[in-house]
Amino acid sequence: MKITALVSLAAALMVFADASPIARRPNHQNVRNGHAVPLTRNPHFKHNTKAQMAKLNKRYPGINILASGTVPLTDAPTDLEYYGTVSIGTPAQDVKLDFDTGSSDIWFPSSDCTTSACQAHTQFNPSQSSTFQQDGRSWNIGYGDGSTASGTLGIDVVSVGGVSVTQTIGLATDESSQFGSSPSDGLFGLAFDTIESVSGVKTFMDNAIAAGVLDQPVVSVFLPSVRRNGGTGGEYLFGGIDSSLYTGDLTYVPVSQQGYWQIAIDGVSAGGQDLGQSSQGIVDTGTTLIIVSDAAAQAIHGTIQGASNDPNNGWVVPCSLQQSTDNISFTLAGTAFNVPLADLAYEDLGDGSGNCFSGVQGGQDLWILGDVFIKNNYCVFSQTDSPSIGIAPLSY
Ligand SMILES: *[C@@H]1O[C@H](CO)[C@@H](O)[C@H](O)[C@H]1NC(C)=O
Repeated sequence: MKITALVSLAAALMVFADASPIARRPNHQNVRNGHAVPLTRNPHFKHNTKAQMAKLNKRYPGINILASGTVPLTDAPTDLEYYGTVSIGTPAQDVKLDFDTGSSDIWFPSSDCTTSACQAHTQFNPSQSSTFQQDGRSWNIGYGDGSTASGTLGIDVVSVGGVSVTQTIGLATDESSQFGSSPSDGLFGLAFDTIESVSGVKTFMDNAIAAGVLDQPVVSVFLPSVRRNGGTGGEYLFGGIDSSLYTGDLTYVPVSQQGYWQIAIDGVSAGGQDLGQSSQGIVDTGTTLIIVSDAAAQAIHGTIQGASNDPNNGWVVPCSLQQSTDNISFTLAGTAFNVPLADLAYEDLGDGSGNCFSGVQGGQDLWILGDVFIKNNYCVFSQTDSPSIGIAPLSY
């Protein structure tokens, strides 16, 4: 289904830095001197929490997130997916891409693609770009909900927020029907090159850093949320850090393994009480919820009256939590970062029970701090020689 009602809720905060580029600066300056990409939420996107779980099963292979079961589609104004405009080629052809720190490929439909899913989206026409070059290699990607995309690799200029690099891109010439309902045309991966689908391909950030076009080797992420501010004003800031968006200092959490943005999660607390849980985990803008181990999910929900683990729906909590002012918190590099219980009441089951899908689910030994975490905490993905994620609570 083609989603036509795309509503831009983001202010157009385009900042074009003209300072001399300095790559791999070891100490970060907390100044807004980068290239901002305004984000758009699609409030009409019909989504399915269970399909998100199925997608995770494929993205993190070998790990079963939830047993099978069906969840009715619910039209909910929750914070599912965020995307921004990216220009490809010369003259520029604009596509809407989902920025994803949990994957590394950049891909979108090619004009050669005749499937209905491709035709429901903007299709890039390489023959109309004077800077396009064939790569010759084939490319494919797949997800646990059965969706797939495949095609060929090409090389062209990719511009985002005024940052332009020559980049290897995936041109989908076949795309399964599931993508037809996606509000974005494709993906923009922001993880490390080691998890590119085709080995040897460099990421956009690799290329931008090597070309010296960023003031700092960072992408700073501000995800808005409907609950906190009506879902407006989100952005990815390439090459800069906007200190007006967070309070206090950023805590730089070292990346423990480069692939995903993987870090050590030292603890999780509820009501100030440590729950005795810790793990390696990743910070992933492309995952909607927070996914932890079964033991940690049990421990967290054990502190929430009325929470239960339903075999069909996973963990559910009373929707009345939306009025709570309490938090759970994750301890990273010695600092506790809050996630309000109000965001744990993620989406109404819609069955009249007054229960909501929880924003925290179990089944994942490599924990995932997804959008439910990031929409409460500003995250600076810093690709220095010793990568880290700078994190601080949002200021609004
Ligand atoms: C919950 O977290 C927010 C944001 O960090 C904080 O302002 C608030 O005081 C916390 N609530 C409680 C009860 O600690």
